[in-house]
Amino acid sequence: MSPKPVILDVDPGHDDAVALMMACGSPELDLLAVTTVAGNVALEKTTRNALRVLSLVGHTGVPVGAGASEPLHRPLRTAEDIHGESGLDGPKIPEADFEPDERGAVGLIADTLRDSPEPVTLVPVGPLTNVAALLRAHPGLKGKIAHVSLMGGSIGLGNTTPAAEFNIFVDPEAAREVFDSGLRITMSGLDVTHQAGAGTAERDRLRAAGGVGGVVAGFLDFFAATYEGIFGFDAPPLHDPVAVAAVLDPGLLKTRPMRVDVECESELTRGETVCDFYGVTGKPPNADVGVELDRAGFFDLLYDSLQRL
Ligand code: RIB
Ligand code: CA
Repeated sequence: MSPKPVILDVDPGHDDAVALMMACGSPELDLLAVTTVAGNVALEKTTRNALRVLSLVGHTGVPVGAGASEPLHRPLRTAEDIHGESGLDGPKIPEADFEPDERGAVGLIADTLRDSPEPVTLVPVGPLTNVAALLRAHPGLKGKIAHVSLMGGSIGLGNTTPAAEFNIFVDPEAAREVFDSGLRITMSGLDVTHQAGAGTAERDRLRAAGGVGGVVAGFLDFFAATYEGIFGFDAPPLHDPVAVAAVLDPGLLKTRPMRVDVECESELTRGETVCDFYGVTGKPPNADVGVELDRAGFFDLLYDSLQRL
């Protein structure tokens, strides 16, 4: 089976960094491009971090296009309290060995879609601003998007407000446009990513592996400290790698087709993914929403991918 072509859209961010490494260490995927968006930290930092992570694992041939520096209609909200000032605090890693692609995120994605002999899977794991911008600028390229496997939203509680998960909260209008696009969407929300908590056992197994595993363990130690301080979790959820795993091995994620609407008006619940679990709206489903994760299978996949780096 030939490797599946994918593009990752990221806002590194510790879990984004692990998602990038997971994609690079998985021969089942052909990482055609990486695009960056403002989210966890400002765009110049998410772009620097994406370039550094790809350099660290020797994947400097993957073009990186910098995208939106702020949401479509709102001021940017960042998360230095969780990811640190750099967006990737913890173990020091070297500066990047290469520069961003001058086409920028939308231009790079558009060219990549046009040039690919087969439709490409998009894996956005930050605010959906770049994906919405691509769909606005190049609606004719939707046919070259096979699938969108996104990390974002929640059937239940939020993590940024009681109702909203961070990626959707930051740019709800972009998220609404993506969910209304008609593209095949798999939503890995907090309901499943919170089943991917990297506790001390998982971090120690990564540390024992050494090499990239040791760096990831160090990143997750930092992530664990901030997550525990804010949420009381001692096992930080590997949110973004779940969206990659859903492409690598769809059987790891139990999903349920649902209509997902995004609240954009209410200041109280803005960014909520309103998931019609029981189909009471009568609206046709627009996403396959993750409801359960095979945790053991997920971590096995993660360890295998990192050991190849
Ligand atoms: O809510 C978790 C999501 O927000 C993850 O993608 C994390 O990296 C942040 O972007
Ligand atoms: Ca992210």
